[in-house]
Amino acid sequence: MKKILLSGYMASGKSTIAQLLSKASGIPYRDLDDIIAENAQKSVSDIFSEDGEIKFRKMEHEALKAVLSDDKGLILALGGGTPCYANNHEFLKCDDVMSIYLKASIPELLKRLRADGKERPLFDKQPPEEQEEFVAKHLFDRSYFYHQSKHVIMTDGKTTENIVNEIMSLF
Ligand code: S3P
Repeated sequence: MKKILLSGYMASGKSTIAQLLSKASGIPYRDLDDIIAENAQKSVSDIFSEDGEIKFRKMEHEALKAVLSDDKGLILALGGGTPCYANNHEFLKCDDVMSIYLKASIPELLKRLRADGKERPLFDKQPPEEQEEFVAKHLFDRSYFYHQSKHVIMTDGKTTENIVNEIMSLF
């Protein structure tokens, strides 16, 4: 059965949509960050601070490969950087994968990043006055990888229900 991979920048709604899509479709969901944290027995923030980003990217790649290697149906919320390292973007194009880029504008992402309170080691270390430029540049660098997803859904101004319905119409 197909895997549904949700890609997108930090705070683009991947985890929330994965959860709601799972409820609506009956397909189980997982969050790749949670799998990495379970495997490492520590939080993503602790992996970044104690082991470094390179180690995190290796763990991320291994966790993604392991999830994709069985044939069970699954909705998987990727991390914001997942498609951008270790050729992970190639997985977005596989035949048995439905990949969806949840695209949001810079102002919308900034608003959500500042509001949602999740620990994000890469964003959290930016001083407030540099956050906007950081997100703009980071998103520009990553955009190519996100766009390797088979479908793109612009999420600005849409309810989570709209987004879930849009994804279900692609099934
Ligand atoms: C990251 C995004 C995070 C997490 C890690 C690195 C990134 O996931 O994987 O902090 O490089 O964009 P979210 O997109 O769920 O915040």
